[in-house]
Amino acid sequence: MSVYFIEGGNPLYGDVEIHGAKNSALPILTATLIGTGKSVIHNCPDLTDIDAAIKILEYLGCSVEREGSTITVESDCISNYNVPDHLMREMRSSIVFLGAVIARCRKTRISFPGGCELGPRPIDLHLSALKKMGLVIEEDHGYLDCHVDGRLHGETIALSFPSVGATENIMLAASTAEGTTVITNAAREPEIVDLANYLNGCGAKITGAGESTIQIEGVGSLHGCEHRVIPDRIVAATFMSAVAVTGGSISLKQIDPVHLGALIPVFEEAGCRVSLHGSTLDIESTGRPKPIKMVRTMPYPGFPTDAQAPIMSMCAFADGTSVFVENIFENRFKHVDELVRLGASIKVEGRVAVVEGVRQLHSASVQATDLRGGAALVVAALGAKGTTEIDGLHHVDRGYERLEDSLNAIGAKVIRA
Ligand code: EPZ
Repeated sequence: MSVYFIEGGNPLYGDVEIHGAKNSALPILTATLIGTGKSVIHNCPDLTDIDAAIKILEYLGCSVEREGSTITVESDCISNYNVPDHLMREMRSSIVFLGAVIARCRKTRISFPGGCELGPRPIDLHLSALKKMGLVIEEDHGYLDCHVDGRLHGETIALSFPSVGATENIMLAASTAEGTTVITNAAREPEIVDLANYLNGCGAKITGAGESTIQIEGVGSLHGCEHRVIPDRIVAATFMSAVAVTGGSISLKQIDPVHLGALIPVFEEAGCRVSLHGSTLDIESTGRPKPIKMVRTMPYPGFPTDAQAPIMSMCAFADGTSVFVENIFENRFKHVDELVRLGASIKVEGRVAVVEGVRQLHSASVQATDLRGGAALVVAALGAKGTTEIDGLHHVDRGYERLEDSLNAIGAKVIRA
């Protein structure tokens, strides 16, 4: 397994091309198996989670070709409807294959999904919604045997929590159901809107995506279409955190400023100068970050939980105390112990983390615990004194495309060995 050696203290200057959003490309690639014909998906990031989704599509019978960031999926013949355990376990978002396979094949056998250990990752909202739409689900030694007699039927589904994955699963399953499905308290993330736009391009009839109530009028079948995935707002936030700790000035290209609505004010409170020019965001660090009084993670359009860890690394250097409240996941502070090894002063009590900024972090050997926690360690190492070793890069590779190359191109000193 490779490791990073990051020499801290180098200011960052230059341009960063922000790649396509992992959490949008994954459900969209999953959705390509619902219709027949060819889908061409542009701006797909080169990530191990994308590799995992491609492996599942190919296992099910799709033919998949990748050329740069364009992935072409032919889904005329689905020759399998079960997703093997080892593929299900590779990532969290494999659970949305449930809705897609049922929409196409009306039956499947899957196991519970894998993904980051951020506390329990239940799928009760997914399963109860699909059962209400007519899916028969039998649990069998960790597997879910699912089938529907005929077609799923449209229902009104009130989500007790605006779950991103559950919203996606219901949209996928409802796209070819009999009748209309209405999701209330739906997730409003940009990735939901992107999935709806792709599905509508394939002949689905979805309205309200991005709002709390989404309506899906089931259609007989879907066809393929061409689509470009939105940029990754969390990768953008990660690079913004990096320059905030190293000093310098960078331009993020191909961003969507609307998706960064809850993030830009945080970097301005930290003392960064942020300016927007169309799909480019310029951010300049003006010295040591200022503390962020209160960061509360919320469903979109609130502060995104995925940006909590990288921004906590920025606050570790601040000239004051910042408070984080993690409202989305039960256990999303695993990166704190590793940041403390680098000299950070952070106290965790349940869902609250109090970060007392210190002027300087020092190098150490640390271990990535999950995807965004690993990104947080990279941010901290870029600002720390000395050379930090980071292990567990398989976590980082799930969500960041060749991170070392992008950082070195703007003045960082990152060796992957
Ligand atoms: C998606 O995960 C993202 N993953 C996560 O990004 C992101 O953090 C999360 O949404 C919130 O924005 C992908 O899109 C692949 P949820 P998901 O369902 O769908 C509870 C990253 O770093 N819940 O909105 O799993 C759940 O336990 C990843 O890129 C239930 O209780 O998130 C959690 O506490 C990490 N029952 C909360 O809801 C359910 O049936 C949010 O989960 C489903 C969820």
